[in-house]
Amino acid sequence: SPRIFSGIQPTGIIHLGNYLGAISQWKKRQDENENVILEIADLHSITLPQNPETLRQSILQMLATLLACGISPEKVLLFQQSMVSTHAELSWILGCVCTMPRLAHLPTFKEKSASLKDVPLGLYIYPILQAADILSYKATHVPVGEDQSQHIQLTQELAKMFNKRYGYCFPIPHAIVTDNVYARLKSLRDPAKKMSKSDPDPKSRISLLDKPEEVIIKIKKAVTDFTSEISYDPEHRPGVSNLLSIHSFMSSKSIDVICKEVQGLNTVSYKKLLADVIVAHLQPIQKEYYAFLSDEEYLHNILKHGAEEALAISTKTLDEVKEKLGLKYSA
Ligand code: TYM
Repeated sequence: SPRIFSGIQPTGIIHLGNYLGAISQWKKRQDENENVILEIADLHSITLPQNPETLRQSILQMLATLLACGISPEKVLLFQQSMVSTHAELSWILGCVCTMPRLAHLPTFKEKSASLKDVPLGLYIYPILQAADILSYKATHVPVGEDQSQHIQLTQELAKMFNKRYGYCFPIPHAIVTDNVYARLKSLRDPAKKMSKSDPDPKSRISLLDKPEEVIIKIKKAVTDFTSEISYDPEHRPGVSNLLSIHSFMSSKSIDVICKEVQGLNTVSYKKLLADVIVAHLQPIQKEYYAFLSDEEYLHNILKHGAEEALAISTKTLDEVKEKLGLKYSA
């Protein structure tokens, strides 16, 4: 039966790209009672320097965010990556299977190392740790946004190479990327780019915790085009189409229905209407978020239980791997 695994870095406030592209997909599978495992990928966050106190807070904030978005620790195995030591160990082993040139061309590395004088090794081997995350649970499906698909492809290759060299151990995991625009939500300032946590301009994204006035300003300033009417055409009108996608998600209406409803509105009045829809959608999530965040004991408890369960599953895999490699006598 399918085993679903995914993860998110705790650093940076979640934006609508993460929410539509990833978290809501996870929630959907959770609600369909699938076997879902979710990780707060804090070891991935330290591939770039982090302030320890801020990182500590970010982890709990991410947990509170996931809960506020409807992820339930009763239905999903939810844990913090660094609390489960097996991932780093499997990552070493996979690093011995992977070649160096295979990592050099991955877009995340190229993008993030471009601006650095001294590139940390961790940034380079980051995708191997991600493969170890996925393979530790013998996951079959990995719901992610489009920017992660090359990492999943690497994971597939490593799984195949390992299986071939040492005997079958890992099912080949498949990326699940939604076939709509949610998989790659665009920057509000430049619809040619994806919405991203690392964009220096906060107006490029709407964060889950943005206040109503921030949402209104950001949508008002969102770059569209010179056509005043509202129509959906991702290729020729990426800006407006991006807004319509957000609208469709937030209102649970189809894009066709929305286009008919807003016929006759110009971009300025359409943006006002959309900002209201977003604010209404985010308000209950924000309320929940602050409630969860104030209960640190509850949050720590979730992480403690999650880590125990994750460690049990991943240790079984690691033992099997070690046995196949000749590092251990019997699984
Ligand atoms: P991260 O934290 O950068 O992003 C979390 C998820 O959000 C998706 N996403 C988007 N989706 C649509 N439109 C966008 N503009 C957008 N921006 C981000 C990402 O694709 C991702 O699904 N390396 C991973 C975390 C990770 C992981 C894993 C994921 C660690 N181990 C194992 C899957 C499996 C990352 O940095 O995601």
